[in-house]
Amino acid sequence: MSSETLDRGLVLDAVRVTEAAAIASWALVGRGDEKAADQAAVDAMRNALNDLEIDGEIVIGEGERDEAPMLYIGEKVGKGGPRVDIALDPLEGTTLTAKAMANALAVMAWAPAGTLLNAPDTYMDKIACGPGYPEGILDLDKTPAQNVEALAAAKGVPADQITVCVLDRPRHSDIMASLRSVGARVYLITDGDVAGVMNTADPETGVDLYIGQGGAPEGVLACAALKCVGGQFQGRLVFRNADEKARAERVGISDFDRKYDLNDIVRADAIFVATGVTKGALLDGVTFKDGFVHTHTLVMNSSSRTVREVRMKRAL
Ligand code: FBP
Repeated sequence: MSSETLDRGLVLDAVRVTEAAAIASWALVGRGDEKAADQAAVDAMRNALNDLEIDGEIVIGEGERDEAPMLYIGEKVGKGGPRVDIALDPLEGTTLTAKAMANALAVMAWAPAGTLLNAPDTYMDKIACGPGYPEGILDLDKTPAQNVEALAAAKGVPADQITVCVLDRPRHSDIMASLRSVGARVYLITDGDVAGVMNTADPETGVDLYIGQGGAPEGVLACAALKCVGGQFQGRLVFRNADEKARAERVGISDFDRKYDLNDIVRADAIFVATGVTKGALLDGVTFKDGFVHTHTLVMNSSSRTVREVRMKRAL
């Protein structure tokens, strides 16, 4: 099952899915309309998925069935083929797109059926680093400062040589204070924590660590990406009210305090695909030049630990 799911042809077909979503949302870049941008990406991604020879089930999608008409949790997609769990975010960075800011992505991951965490649409506390560190080096129960010190010791540098990516939100002020108390550099992003986590695995970005609270669905997508390139992740769901706990119960979660490691979230080999909508640290955005549309996509496969960059050019 695993090798069938990760079949080379199928993996490259997956590229078309995020390409289609990115191209569709590009038309809405800078138009100030987050909903329209998201809807364009959703429509395009769903059409492209339904063209693939897979028997897919959305486990991370646009929401529960009663609130999302398309790509809702539990929706079946594809024309038939290997059974896969699909996690997707047709437009990761709706605000980035509406404001024509960097780093908006169309992202998707898939893995054999039953192997991706069905995360509810709540927040998740997250901590992540790239490859090359001793297993278990990060711990959400330690302070951000302690995690920086552990990482710095393993890297063999002082703590002030560690750069930590954090979503710029008031709720993160204590985290930032703790990081700065040991001299770490705080690299703030306005949105898009899938890319934020992925930055830790790309030495070009200079980011060593990711810490903070963001969407749980984005946590699953980020784990699929890290599984392909190496790295560590720990997440814990955050519940603000009874309704959010009920959401978790509906997807089979009963231990509300559990700390999930990467392999608890993505329990088998996975593929991860991301196409740039707007230009960012990891990917170029969609461009239209000389009668062609151009896209830039990363396709990663954890079973072969391969990362491919695909540049597509299509006549308009
Ligand atoms: P959307 O694309 O759905 O707007 O999500 C963007 C994002 O920045 C995620 O990357 C992140 O996990 C989440 O929003 C953070 O949520 P909030 O904006 O409520 O802090």
